[in-house]
Order: sequence, then structure tokens, then C-alpha cells
Amino acid sequence: MIPTDNPTVTRLLALMDQKHHWAYPALTKPGLTRDQLLVHFRHEYATYVRDFPVLLARAMGQVPPLPDVRHALAENLYEEQTGGLSKSDAHPELFLRLMEGLGFSRDLFDDSDLCPAAESYKTWLMKKSASEPWQAAVALLTIFVEGSVNERAELAGTYKRLQGEEAVKKHPLVLHYGCPPSAMQLTRAHGDIEGSHRADAWRILITHVTDAQVARAVVETCMDALARWQRYRDGVAERMGLSPADTATPPKVASR
Ligand SMILES: [Fe+2]
Repeated sequence: MIPTDNPTVTRLLALMDQKHHWAYPALTKPGLTRDQLLVHFRHEYATYVRDFPVLLARAMGQVPPLPDVRHALAENLYEEQTGGLSKSDAHPELFLRLMEGLGFSRDLFDDSDLCPAAESYKTWLMKKSASEPWQAAVALLTIFVEGSVNERAELAGTYKRLQGEEAVKKHPLVLHYGCPPSAMQLTRAHGDIEGSHRADAWRILITHVTDAQVARAVVETCMDALARWQRYRDGVAERMGLSPADTATPPKVASR
């Protein structure tokens, strides 16, 4: 059980409560064009999906000899780069299969034509994942990037992640955008594995962030991440031609 009254947990949960964006509801209902979907997913892939295993590896490279932390990160990295735990495949590869299910060729997914805020968030993630203190790098990736606006409810046990075929059947890309369930292996893999990675992330934090200066660095890094992520999402929404007035409903589904 993660103590939510731990001061660092409290501050990070307050941050994660804000990890939503006004453009998200548009992605959970019908109405986006193919071009708009492509803009969104190209950015997600190039900004942090493709290189997420490398970001984890960079953070792990800084971790002192603490077997519990190294174990958790190695397990996460193994799943992200091979799909070995969920018996699937590397998550960046599963993402491209999902895109093919939507009818997009994998050749469209490269680093070209990203909005400036995406470029800047991507570069910053690469730098921070290998910056001291290691606790800030690990929290940035495993709590902020991998976590979602549902973090508080997930820790409280009131949010239940959909799993398996139920998660696939109810996914907006299947419901509204014609993605065949067979292309949704990424959703299945996340449903199988993600819960245990969320728990590891918080456990590492409460066990190894005990020094006030380190705690401050962890919170400041995640605050910076939130501001940069919001600018990234604003930039992508602008490229999609969306405005807040188009999407004036509360967010229901969060992505990383
Ligand atoms: Fe993943």
C-alpha cells in the first residue's frame, strides 16, 4: 500500500491530477479526420514512444547498487523493448502495428515535421533521463511519463484498468476509427503489465526519496515535465487544427 500522505507522493499526485489536456476528449469520440489522427500519433511515436526503452536504460545507468530499483527498471525495460513479460513484442513495434491497423503505413512514423514543443520535450526527456539525481530521472519516466491522470484513483484502488478483450473492445480506436481488434496488442500488453509497473514506480519513490533535497529535485523535475508536456500537447492540438472550444467536455481517457 502506498502512503498517499507521504509529502512527495502528495505533491506528485497533485501534479498527476493535472496530466490531462483539453484536446483529449476529441480522441475518445468519433469526428477526427485521418489526417488529424496521423498528426497525433506521429507525434506520440517520435516524441517518446519509440525511444521510451532507451530513456529507461539511460535512467537505469545512473542507479547505484540498489537491487530492488535495478530489478524493477530492468523488468520494465525488458517488457518495453521485447514484450517478453506480456508474451507480445516491443511496445514501439506494437504501436506501429496499431497504426497499421488504422491504415497508416509505418513509413510515415519518423522524426520529420514535429512541432517545436514536441522537439523540445523530446530533447529534454533524453537529457533528464541521464541527469542526477537518479531518483528524479526514474520518477520522471516511471511516474510522469508512464503514469496518467488516473494515478490517484489507481493508488486508492478505485480505478480499475480495463484488461484483455474488454480493454480492446471498448477502445475508442476500435469503437470509432475502425481499428481491428487484432491490431490492438499494445492495449493488451499494457492491460497485462502496466499495473505492476505503476506499483513499482511509487514503491521506488517512497523507499528511496527520503532526503529533502532529492525530494525537491524529484518534484521540480516532474513539475517541469508537466509544463513541457502541456506545451507539447498544445502544439500537437494546434497542428491537428483543434481549439478548446471544439472539445469542451471533461477528459475521460488519458494517454501517457
Ligand atoms: Fe509500454
